[in-house]
This record gives sequence, C-alpha cells and structure tokens, in this order.
Amino acid sequence: MKHFLYTGFLLITLAIISCSCIIYNKADTRKKESSLKKNFSNSFYIGAALNEDQILGRDKKALNIVKKEFNTITPENCMKWLLLEPEQDKFDFYLADKYVNLGLENNMHIVGHTLIWHSQLPNFVEKTSSADVLNNRIKNHINLVVGRYKGKINAWDVVNEALNEDGTYRESVFYKLLGESFIENAFRLAAKADPDAELIYNDYNLCEEPKRSGAVKMIKNLQKKGIKIDGLGIQAHWQLTTPSLKEIEESIVAFSELGVKVMFTELDVSVLPSPWDLKGAEVSQNFKEFEGDKKMNPYPGKLPDSIQNQLAKRYQDIMKLFLKHQDKISRVTFWGVTDKHSWLNDWPIKGRTNYPLLFDKNYQYKKAYHSILNLKN
Ligand code: XIL
Repeated sequence: MKHFLYTGFLLITLAIISCSCIIYNKADTRKKESSLKKNFSNSFYIGAALNEDQILGRDKKALNIVKKEFNTITPENCMKWLLLEPEQDKFDFYLADKYVNLGLENNMHIVGHTLIWHSQLPNFVEKTSSADVLNNRIKNHINLVVGRYKGKINAWDVVNEALNEDGTYRESVFYKLLGESFIENAFRLAAKADPDAELIYNDYNLCEEPKRSGAVKMIKNLQKKGIKIDGLGIQAHWQLTTPSLKEIEESIVAFSELGVKVMFTELDVSVLPSPWDLKGAEVSQNFKEFEGDKKMNPYPGKLPDSIQNQLAKRYQDIMKLFLKHQDKISRVTFWGVTDKHSWLNDWPIKGRTNYPLLFDKNYQYKKAYHSILNLKN
C-alpha cells in the first residue's frame, strides 16, 4: 500500500513537471517567434539602414537580426551619388546591386537613399558651374539609377536635406545654379523613370519650426504643380529629451494633412552631450576641438542603468505616439542595426561611444527593444 501511494505520488509529480515544461516551452517559443516586424505588421513597416558588412553578409550576427526583426531596409551609404559614381562616368553598382538582391531575397520593402543631396556628392558634380550641365547630370543620374532598379526599389528618397533651419532653401550647388526648380525636376524625373516607386522628400529637424513650415510650403508648391510626391521622411536623429513629443505629434499631423505618408526614416536617439546644443544631422559638421574630451564622451565603457532606462522610456514614448498615429505613418526605420556601427560614434565628434539603437555592441537586445516590442499586444 505504502509502495502504491509512493508510486502514485511520483507519477503525479512527473505529470505536473511535464505539463509545466510544455507550457513553459510554448511561452518560450512564442517569445522566440515575436519580433518587431511581426508585432508592428498591422501598423507600419519597421526597418534598419544597412552598412557594407551587413549587405555583403560579413556581419552575420547583424544580418540575422535584420532578417528576424525588420521588413524594410535602407542603404546607409552605398547608393549615394559619390559611391555610385565617384568619378565622372566611372560607375560602381556592386554594393547597390547586392543590397537590392538582399531585399528581394528576403521579401523586404526596399528603400533607395538618396538621389539628390548636397553631401557625399562627387567632386565633378559639386564643382559644376553651368546650369545646363548640372541639369543634364541630374537627369542622367536619376534615369540611370532609378531605371536600373525599376520595379525592385519600392521607395526613393528623391531629394535629401534641401532646407535650412529657417525653412529657406539651402545654398547647395543645386540651388545656386538651378533655384528651387531642381526639386520639382528631380521628382518629375524619378516619377517618369519608375512610375510605381514611392517618392519621398527627406530631411532632419522637420519637427521644429520654422523648418517644418518650410517643408509644408515646399510640398504644397510641388502639389500645386501636379508633381507626384508620396511621402515625407522625417530623419529623426533625436536626443533623449528633444524634440518634444508635442513637436513630433504636431509634425505628424501637419504633414499628413497634406495627404502624404509620414515616415521616420533614420531614427536614432543620442545619449551623449552635443557640442553647443547642436541638433540635426548636417554630416559635414565635425567638432575636432572636442575629440578626446572626456566630458563629451561620458560612457566609454558601459551605459549607466539610469541612462539605459531613460533611453528605453524615450523609445517607448516615441513608439506609443507612432502607434497612436499609425494611420498616418507608413514606415519607421532605425539608422543602423546595433550600437557598434552607429554613425553617432563618429558624428559630430569622432571616436565617442554612443548607445542610440535597440541592439547593443554585442548584438544583444537592449531594454529599449523590450520597451517597445509588446506595445501592440
Ligand atoms: C551618414 C552615414 O550614416 C555615415 O556613415 C556617413 O559617413 C555620412 O552619412 N542624414 C542622411 C544620411 O540622410 O545619409 C546620413 O548618413 C546621416 C544624416
């Protein structure tokens, strides 16, 4: 009798253990299966900008993250004019082709970045002195590049950063020689080269006035002329407290009222001090005098928990706001995959350690990732 009781007790215990194992495993599989792209699939595309090692598959760990978490990609550098045509008529499409193939193989929404931009521009274009020659160069460039990837690239950043902080036009070589007509020209050419591609104007500091109003005015002008513009890309190189949620929300509303899709195209959140309260993302700004200054690089080893928590909260607040306006927002792209390769380690001051993304330098999920993953459940 005693023996039976003992065996019975043992069997029940075993049954309880195996049941809990099954339940635990199920929960664990669910955890493994959840991903940003899955959880946000009914809201907007979610993605990252890819660097050379990721495109070529050398950085396998990052590529695995990209495939698991994201459904849209942007080329961090390889499609900029300087990279595609470093010298006049000397083209290099090697990386760009690989990038597009990667997107096609993984069934991703593929973004082309960027056609007309004052930075990372080849010397021969920068130094153009005649309006006709420049117009021809723009035409050939857009026809060649958009034409090459017609039907493959889903969305193009047609013009990047044409505005100053006060909402006027930036004195780029394009504006100096052609006036604001270079913008409508670029959009017209892109629409002709691939009528099905989504066409975007992309810029930084678009949540701040008066630049925001400048962009609104510019888009209205294009629309009045019947020019196709589908999206407004807010780069979103942000800080822990700026821009405010109010400014971001007002911008989402202001741009969507124009009837264009709103996209956050280069999201990252710097946790480091900025020189002289610098905001924005003008890539030519480089503050050499601060290089090696410890005050400007306060977390070279590890990010303190208190800041990690602030970053997680900031990302959660931002994502909650995006979800509130998901009917207006079509894409959210992070500017990089992990902190290890973020451009913010070298901009605007070289050689710092920044922590702006959802994955740390060891490819591990950060608190910020967890803070947004389940917002939709
Ligand atoms: C940056 C890249 O991340 C860097 O690797 C490169 O050295 C400079 O450009 N706005 C843009 C992006 O539109 O193309 C920029 O990317 C960041 C600011």
